[in-house]
Amino acid sequence: MSARLNVNIDHVATVRQARRTIEPNLIAAALLCEKAGADGITVHLRQDRRHIQDRDLFLLRQTLNTYLNVEMAVAPEMISIALEVLPNAVTLVPERPEEITTEGGLNVQENFEAVREAILRLKEARIFTSIFVNPEIEQIEASKRAGADQVELCTAHYSELTLSGNSFHGEALGKVKEEIKRLSDAAKYAASLGLVVAAGHGLTYRNVGAIAAIEEISEFNIGHNIISRSIFVGIEQAVREMIQAIKQGRQNRG
Ligand code: PXP
Repeated sequence: MSARLNVNIDHVATVRQARRTIEPNLIAAALLCEKAGADGITVHLRQDRRHIQDRDLFLLRQTLNTYLNVEMAVAPEMISIALEVLPNAVTLVPERPEEITTEGGLNVQENFEAVREAILRLKEARIFTSIFVNPEIEQIEASKRAGADQVELCTAHYSELTLSGNSFHGEALGKVKEEIKRLSDAAKYAASLGLVVAAGHGLTYRNVGAIAAIEEISEFNIGHNIISRSIFVGIEQAVREMIQAIKQGRQNRG
């Protein structure tokens, strides 16, 4: 079975917020992603509201036919918003105001009580809970103890390693293979604990295949690369190409 794709549409809102105007229309973008075959939509409601706004969440909740996954920081006021919107899933992520994008996984061990409390509140409302973590045994184990349903493995390091055209030769290739093994081992460990396994951050048409070949990964959250390509080919085509890249990676496994 191929993995599900949630398209992260934050950067449609980034363009809109550049002018604080009404276009491009986020809901239209979300519906076109669904029409192209996406399994769901992911958005990150940041505390600084740099792209997605609270109103977007309510509109998405009312209009989507598939699945809404909202990423947010572990902060009581953010969890309260989730309890009002009632998305299908909430993914807890770390957030630093100055960061350009999420910089890595959440340190679940260090923030254990706050994470556990947030998950308890979300689960009471029957929201599926996911935690964005680095592919590390301790973080996955802590996520399970905190009560999460899913872990989303951070692929940022893999993405950095595969950004350059030289990454598939010599010493660089060794590092890429090591990171794929780290992600694969983490996925297997998480699955063995009964956690659902997702992955994301920095994935592209070129590098998603090797990660899609990891059988335990059942969901991808991919944004920047799809929205970038949509400028040239349109959002439906951009989504279809990513679905195809994931399918191909799955088929090439082994
Ligand atoms: N998953 C998480 C938890 C993220 O924070 C992000 C970025 O918002 C993504 C996936 C998607 O990353 P990208 O936009 O690089 O595909």
